[in-house]
Formats: sequence, structure tokens, C-alpha cells
Amino acid sequence: MKKKALVIGGGGRCHAIVDALSHSPQVEKIYCAPGNAGIAQQAESVAIKETDVAALKAFVKENAIDLTVVGPEAVLAVGIVDEFRKDGLAILGHTKAATQIETSKEFAKKLMQKYGIPTADYCSFTDYDNALIYVREHSFPSVIKYDGLAAGKGVVIAENLAQAENALKDMLLDSRYGEGKVVIEEFLQGPEFSFMCFVNGRNVYPMPLAQDHKRAFDGDKGPNTGGMGAYTRLPFITPEDEEFALKNILQKTADAMVEEGCPLSGVLYGGLMKTEKGIKVIEFNARFGDPETEVVLPLLESDAYDVMYAMAVGEKPQELSWSREVAMGVVLASNGYPGSYEKGHAITIDDGCPAHIFHMGTKMTANGLVTNGGRVLMCVCTACTIEEAVAKAYQSLNYIHCDNLFYRKDIAHWALNK
Ligand code: AMP
Ligand code: GLY
Repeated sequence: MKKKALVIGGGGRCHAIVDALSHSPQVEKIYCAPGNAGIAQQAESVAIKETDVAALKAFVKENAIDLTVVGPEAVLAVGIVDEFRKDGLAILGHTKAATQIETSKEFAKKLMQKYGIPTADYCSFTDYDNALIYVREHSFPSVIKYDGLAAGKGVVIAENLAQAENALKDMLLDSRYGEGKVVIEEFLQGPEFSFMCFVNGRNVYPMPLAQDHKRAFDGDKGPNTGGMGAYTRLPFITPEDEEFALKNILQKTADAMVEEGCPLSGVLYGGLMKTEKGIKVIEFNARFGDPETEVVLPLLESDAYDVMYAMAVGEKPQELSWSREVAMGVVLASNGYPGSYEKGHAITIDDGCPAHIFHMGTKMTANGLVTNGGRVLMCVCTACTIEEAVAKAYQSLNYIHCDNLFYRKDIAHWALNK
């Protein structure tokens, strides 16, 4: 019987999930809430707010949807998975309790400490004066993290006491982000990479490794963004490193979550760093990474519906195989991003563009496609070598016309200069 799927979210990551599901021969219909202009070419848009669990659940029942896939962590954090499972609905994502691995830095740090999962040493504080004393007694830079969801803005790397004081004031005294609690960590150094796995219970299925480019400008300069590009197959990570991380980080974490009574049932994202003292966890996310998903999912050779459904209901997928090609993607962002930027600039895309074009922030108007976000489009190409993928992805940008977009010209530089 043909299947129906609902994807929750509206960015490039959700476009990549919709695209993967659209290649499944079992899937006859995909809905996306709320979706975007690009997703609308492959799925029917549903005008329901991402976190309106009751409305989403009613929609799934009315339309006899077989599988729901959640994109953003904020939707997991409101407990959508718990609500759907009460009624026996298949949903890919973690319960509210398990999502704490992302939403609470302290939960994640305590778990890693208890189960011997390698990460930076840390201490947590609710009191400003005690936090300041701790910072004074330790060397700089000092890594100060707000304990809760802060949309990627809750980490400050303080180079000196004045910067640390400011950050602690913001997080503990002004309660800018909500209730005040911070984690202060040892500063680690080394290349960062993303290791995503499908997980249900103790079963862990690794995806190809990827690297994000968080800074806005070439040479990894400028402010942090949601990610300006990504690529797979990382030359600085050896097969031994990968095996170590799978066994001692991802698998151990899946097992630890079972032991703690909150098993994982979706995607576990390890934000890892290869330090001089080995691979360590910088952070966990409880969902697909963005923009990593846009380069990883195009490499999935197996039936995406089968894989995601199996994870959602605690079964083993029939098959899970990945292409041996590499993928590389460049993000086109609005001028001014990640600061303030304009929306509503016209975009035209010529026929024959060789890239997968994932829409991140676009809107269809009576006058055609326009920009509608900070990050607007991501052009992803696959090839046998990273050099080919990079060349193809940058060439594909010639097919896209808009007067208000910029992009990094050095995505995958870590892989090209080796
Ligand atoms: P997080 O939100 O925890 O991923 O942190 C955001 C970014 O801050 C990471 O991608 C790292 O580049 C940096 N960062 C976080 N923790 C550390 C650490 N302990 N040492 C060095 N850099 C860090
Ligand atoms: N690429 C970082 C994230 O998804 O959080």
C-alpha cells in the first residue's frame, strides 16, 4: 500500500528530508508544515504552526498519514513525540525527556560524565558570583554556555575577564534567554565535525560524516551563522577516528539514554572535535543538523521512508546503504545576514541547474519567487571527488539570479588543501 508522510519544519533541512522521502517508491503523498516555496514543488504545504501539536495530530489522523518526521528541536521540546505515540502514531523524533540531550547542556554533560563519554571538563552555576570566582580561577579562553535552547546564540567564548563578566551578566542576571543557569567548560581546540546517526534504543546507524561552515565569511571569519555550507568525507578524520567516535561516543550515548529510561528514537547529532587528546563531544543535537542534512541525505541509497519508519517504530530498517560519492553544498544568504537583512528580493533559477537546490528561506508571491530569510537557498552537488563536487556546486550558482545574495567561496577548504 502506498504511504503518506508529513514533514514538520520549513527550512533547507526539511526540504532535504522531503526530497529524500520523495524518492521512495512507497510514498505517494508528502505534506510539509509549514514548508516553503521550494518544498511546495515536492510536497503539499500545510498551514499549521510547527509547535501546534494538537492541530498537527488532528491533521495526521484526518489524512491517515503513516509517518511524521520532525525537523526542528523546538518541536521535539514541546513533546510532540510523546503526544503522537499516546495515539500510536508513527513519528521520527525523540520524546521530550530524550530531547534534553540537546535542550539542557547540563543534562548532556552529566550524562557524558556518568558514562565516560569524552567531552570538555565543566562546572555548572546558577549564581553569578560563584560563576565569576570559577572563571577567575581558570585560564582563558573560557567557554560559557547558557543551559537551555538559545537558537545557537547561547555560547560565548570569553577571551578575558571583561568578556566573561558580560556573558555571565547576560545569562544569569539579566536572564536574557529565560531562567538563568550556565555551564562553564574547558576550551578545546581542533577541527570540528558532525556525526549524525539514526538511533532507536541501542541500535545506532551512522550517516556519512559532514562538516559545517559556521562563520559568515571566507577563511572562517566573521560572525557565527546557522551554517554557510557543508560537505561530506572529511580527510582529517581517519577510519579509526570514525570507529572510535561511533563506539565510544554515539553508541555509548544511545546505551546511556536507555539506561536512564529515556531511549532515543530519531536522529542523534554529535557535534565533535578532534583534539590533541582525542575526539570529544562539543554538543549533542536531538535532530538532523542544518546544513549537514542537505549534503548527507542526497547520499542515501536505501528507501528513506523505510529507514525513517523503522526508526520511528523501533524496528530494524530493511537496508541502510550510502553512496560512495561525496556531496558539497553552498548556502546563498541575504546581504547583511546574520545581522539584519531585507526580504522580498526576486529570485530566478534557470532551467538545467545541475545542483539539488534546497530552499531555506524563500516565498512564492504573485510576482514569482522571492527571498524570505537570512539563509535563502543551498546548492548541493554530488561527485566522485570533492574537487569535482566543489566545481559543480560553484558552477551551479550561475543558474541562480538575485541581487541581494552572498555566499562563501571556500566551502570545503579543509578538504581541498590537504
Ligand atoms: P555549541 O552550541 O555547544 O555547539 O557551541 C557552539 C560553538 O562554540 C561550537 O561549534 C564550537 O565552535 C564552540 N565551542 C563550544 N564548546 C567549546 C569548547 N569547549 N571549546 C572550544 N570551542 C567550543
Ligand atoms: N549545523 C549545526 C546544527 O544543526 O546545529
